[in-house]
Amino acid sequence: MNEEQHDDWNPLDASVLRDQRQAYDEMRERCPVAHSEFLGWSLFRHEDIAGVLADTQTYSNESRFMAIPNGMDPPAHGRYREALDSNFDPQQMASAEPRAREIAQTLLKSALHIGEMEFIDDFAIPFALKTLCALLGWPEHQWECLSGWVHGSQQASFNNDPAAGKDLAIRFSEQVKANLSTHRAYPNEVADTTDVLLCTEVDGVRLEDDQIVSILRNWTAGHGTLAASLGIVVLHLAQQTELQDRLRSDLSLIPAAIEEILRAVVRWSPTHVPRRGRSLFKVVPFPRVST
Ligand code: HEM
Repeated sequence: MNEEQHDDWNPLDASVLRDQRQAYDEMRERCPVAHSEFLGWSLFRHEDIAGVLADTQTYSNESRFMAIPNGMDPPAHGRYREALDSNFDPQQMASAEPRAREIAQTLLKSALHIGEMEFIDDFAIPFALKTLCALLGWPEHQWECLSGWVHGSQQASFNNDPAAGKDLAIRFSEQVKANLSTHRAYPNEVADTTDVLLCTEVDGVRLEDDQIVSILRNWTAGHGTLAASLGIVVLHLAQQTELQDRLRSDLSLIPAAIEEILRAVVRWSPTHVPRRGRSLFKVVPFPRVST
């Protein structure tokens, strides 16, 4: 079928964005394999999605752009995942936790002083991107450049503006490569994650700078998802004061509560539309939360 022949739905329609879960439930009934100009072909049924994901011969994940690892097919995808996964093992995450707590406390202190905050802009985004800078051993003020890239790229994608997206991609690449040069020139005694990436090998060959740029593009986008998830958890807690009290009286419940809130509050899922093939998955706009 010619993709330009007709559109079955418009993922950017206000009625869809207002309640994506409900809109997708309706599409599942009305047109479970649907075409739109914005997303191309979309699947709504679990069995169709599982079938596509399992059939990598027919349905490629290959991106037009270098996208490591999410724009790759097996077996290369698995080799890159294997090389990168140790950056996120429990030991690495535990070593990042003290600085993450400090960043959170500093951001919250200024809000306590003022008495209110716009949660996503004043906490979730700076927290997510400052912790990424800390993990990478980059100056923390660089979170603002990363934030500009995340927002600009989302806007360029929504506005279907490839020139703006390309310009942002060049600036992102320059920022990453400048940090790689600094790390090469001044190696740390205790390796941070940038040092680790500079030494990472796949199939016995060190990662090239452009490959590290691609990897960090994904990690930065991943932190946008983290910011959205923080918004979902806090919005839910703001609406459930009894749950707040329960968690305050037994802090050990917090990890399970976070998992459960993210599982249960699907109306605000941070990744409604994982994209395949043509480009990276799309993150829905952050829910706005005022506390
Ligand atoms: C709560 C926060 C997060 C949620 C809900 C989330 C969700 C997801 C989902 C649903 C996918 C699969 C997309 C698909 O199948 O196409 C994915 C993939 C991915 N995410 Fe996240 N993510 C989160 C945080 C992060 C963070 C913090 C990072 C970076 C450090 C990250 C990096 C990635 C990468 C690199 C992939 C591609 C993996 C691959 O192709 O093997 N994510 N994420």
